Amino acid sequence: MFLLRQTVSNARQLAPNIRAMSSKGPLVDLTVDNDGVAIMTLQRPPVNSLNLDLLTEISKSLDEVAKNKSRGMILTSSSPTVFSAGLDIMEMYKPDIKRAEEFWTTLQDVWFKLFGSSFPTAAAINGHAPAGGCLLSMSCEYRAMVSGKFTIGLNETALGIVAPKWFMDTMCQTISTREAEYALTTARMFTVDEALKVSLIDETATDKADAIAKCKGFIKKFERIPPLARAITKQKIRDAPIKSLQTTRQADTQEFLTYLKNPKVQQSLEMYIQALKQKAAK
Ligand SMILES: CC(C)(COP(=O)(O)OP(=O)(O)OC[C@H]1O[C@@H](n2cnc3c(N)ncnc32)[C@H](O)[C@@H]1OP(=O)(O)O)[C@@H](O)C(=O)NCCC(=O)NCCS
Repeated sequence: MFLLRQTVSNARQLAPNIRAMSSKGPLVDLTVDNDGVAIMTLQRPPVNSLNLDLLTEISKSLDEVAKNKSRGMILTSSSPTVFSAGLDIMEMYKPDIKRAEEFWTTLQDVWFKLFGSSFPTAAAINGHAPAGGCLLSMSCEYRAMVSGKFTIGLNETALGIVAPKWFMDTMCQTISTREAEYALTTARMFTVDEALKVSLIDETATDKADAIAKCKGFIKKFERIPPLARAITKQKIRDAPIKSLQTTRQADTQEFLTYLKNPKVQQSLEMYIQALKQKAAK
């Protein structure tokens, strides 16, 4: 599932303290470019929906980036139109409870590692980013989104699901609490321009290459900043949401499992899946 290929040698030449790193798994592609910046590309067709397997690979890839002391990491997608469709609904619809528990704890792990990473992170959002796709990008420190008919936001309430507190916290770290409350309660999906206006994204980009270049521009800002001071500052600013989930982690998992066992939630999910299928068939 997660194959490791150690073939990138020029990254080592240009950035001597960075070990060569390149992993080609079927679901996540992880490479280091010539500037020592790791590019993590999600590649689970058709829409990068986050199932247990993809989350497990993202989690391992984040470990790899941390271990290899990359200058920073850019998260992006291999799809030309979808960054990530968020949590895979099929993991939640009529679930096997044991697997659902593993699914949720792996999502929590990914969030701890991404939101709390010591290395700089940026998202090159090259397509739609609903729900978990929005969460992943908000967990990064910087977001450049490709202009177009794409949308981004936390739309859980539209599915009859309550976004967990740590999703809300992540949004409140990104945009104002007022905007977050309005967006969460109305399941608001922002257009690219709307997202820029409320600072849900930091920059617009003309295409994926431009989005990556802008993310690299952000990571470059840390060239002359001592990494330890940077990392501690980031962690202190992000401390409250992290501590909050650390102390409530088990209850959070139980709450998720309780939701899944609720027939009304299952009914909402079923209707949503039908709506998606009908839309795809048109
Ligand atoms: C992301 C999105 C905008 C992409 O639109 P698109 O490119 O037109 O792609 P489609 O909607 O046709 O989806 C393609 C396939 O992925 C499936 N899919 C989309 N999102 C999915 C998800 N989150 N989980 C599981 N499957 C999903 C669709 O059912 C469709 O399956 P099919 O080919 O078997 O019919 C759209 O799929 C979408 O809004 N998805 C739901 C996002 C969401 O609400 N996530 C919250 C989960 S809690």
